[in-house]
Amino acid sequence: MERPKRDDILDVTVDHLAFGGQGVARADGFVVFCDDTAPGDHARVRVRKARRRFAEARLEEVLEAGPDRIVAPCANVPRCGGCRLQHVGYETVLAAKRDQVAEHLARIGHLPDVTVLEADPALEHFGYRNKMEYSASPDRDGGLHLGFHERGRWDSIVDIDECMIATPLGNRLREAVRRWALDEGVAPYDQRAQEGVLRHVVTREGVNTGQALVNIVTTAGAEEVVDRLAERLVGDCPELVGLVHSINDGVAEVTSGLVTRTVWGRDFIEERIHDVTLRLSAGAFFQTNTRMAERLYERAAEAAGLSGGEVLYDLYAGAGSVGLVLAPKAREVVAIEIVEDAVRDATANAERNGFSSYRAICGDVRVVLREQRDQLPAPDVAIVDPPRAGLSGGAVRRILELAPPVLVYISCQPATFADNAKRFVDGGYTLEWVRPVDMFPQTPHIEAVARFTR
Ligand SMILES: C[S@@+](CC[C@H](N)C(=O)[O-])C[C@H]1O[C@@H](n2cnc3c(N)ncnc32)[C@H](O)[C@@H]1O
Repeated sequence: MERPKRDDILDVTVDHLAFGGQGVARADGFVVFCDDTAPGDHARVRVRKARRRFAEARLEEVLEAGPDRIVAPCANVPRCGGCRLQHVGYETVLAAKRDQVAEHLARIGHLPDVTVLEADPALEHFGYRNKMEYSASPDRDGGLHLGFHERGRWDSIVDIDECMIATPLGNRLREAVRRWALDEGVAPYDQRAQEGVLRHVVTREGVNTGQALVNIVTTAGAEEVVDRLAERLVGDCPELVGLVHSINDGVAEVTSGLVTRTVWGRDFIEERIHDVTLRLSAGAFFQTNTRMAERLYERAAEAAGLSGGEVLYDLYAGAGSVGLVLAPKAREVVAIEIVEDAVRDATANAERNGFSSYRAICGDVRVVLREQRDQLPAPDVAIVDPPRAGLSGGAVRRILELAPPVLVYISCQPATFADNAKRFVDGGYTLEWVRPVDMFPQTPHIEAVARFTR
């Protein structure tokens, strides 16, 4: 067959799910990644991108549903860019996530024989996200859309009145902000015209403490109207412990790294995870699924295999959560993190939880390990938990020089993990096992814990 061209209509049978959530089918041997399909689906699809070696296609019609297809419960599927796998049975998704980790390790890491254990299933399939970032934009008539980017569109926001993966409190907070914006006539920001006021609403919740924090991101000059939000929010959501206000007059659609003031209450929430109480500032990272974070850290503890006498490094530490959960089993903990507020949180969290042999250093892991290595105790175990981009080549080299006997890698992106894993194996480590932990049900994102030894 000729290579498919844009807008060609193909009838295909979907074989399995690829990383990213698309179904993989073959049309006369040519690989086609099909949106919104499930394994076993016989589907009519339209090619939207044709490349030399594969094509991407959108679903036109399910001709015959595969055995794993279910009805997506959320009315915003498939327009909303948030969840991409609501239409596939959970067991199938979970198995696919495990297979995708193994496939990335084989293809990108050239490590086909690694033990990839069964994925830990999510404890809650909906209502699990403790942090939500909503974008505001005007609808066609200038009214307010508050929700998520439409799939594949930077300039269109799907208005959400209930997000099924947010918690009930997260949904209530968003709706309270919406009522304020409508009553006060706060204009949503128009990205094309670069005008308007309300840009983002970030809600954050301590699931085990019931505390909530809201961050309103606006253009400059909205202080007075944002001040009036505090009273209303407290009335509608007594769980609120703080309202913060960030100013973004730039083009970039960001919610962090901005000039921020506390409007009411405080600029952090508390969360409890295992026996540790954590202070989490508005700008500090925390895992977005609290109950599964507990599971993730149990798996990290298993991988670390601490017995009480070890020096533990917690690299890319955020507010110190994983290091502090594991601290009772270590002699000393050294945490490194680049965001200042998170480092302040980590230090305060260690003090509050009574861990005196704890130090948190602010800086880039790569630079701190190069400049301060001689002043730091040698690690017995190092945990790395980098962002999706994975470890840079420089960071891998510094960690190889550091040579912890046990290296625990917490990954939120299987492709960058597979690339980093290869470098560690080439550098003398054995990758003993990898365990996916499903932190993000309904979405294609994959979290995994791995144990390396040398
Ligand atoms: C995936 S989070 C992990 C946080 C923490 N381990 C947890 O479980 O909550 C990654 C963290 O790495 C930090 N980070 C990103 N780049 C960094 C770098 N070059 N050096 C140090 N920290 C970095 C981010 O600020 C973020 O807190």
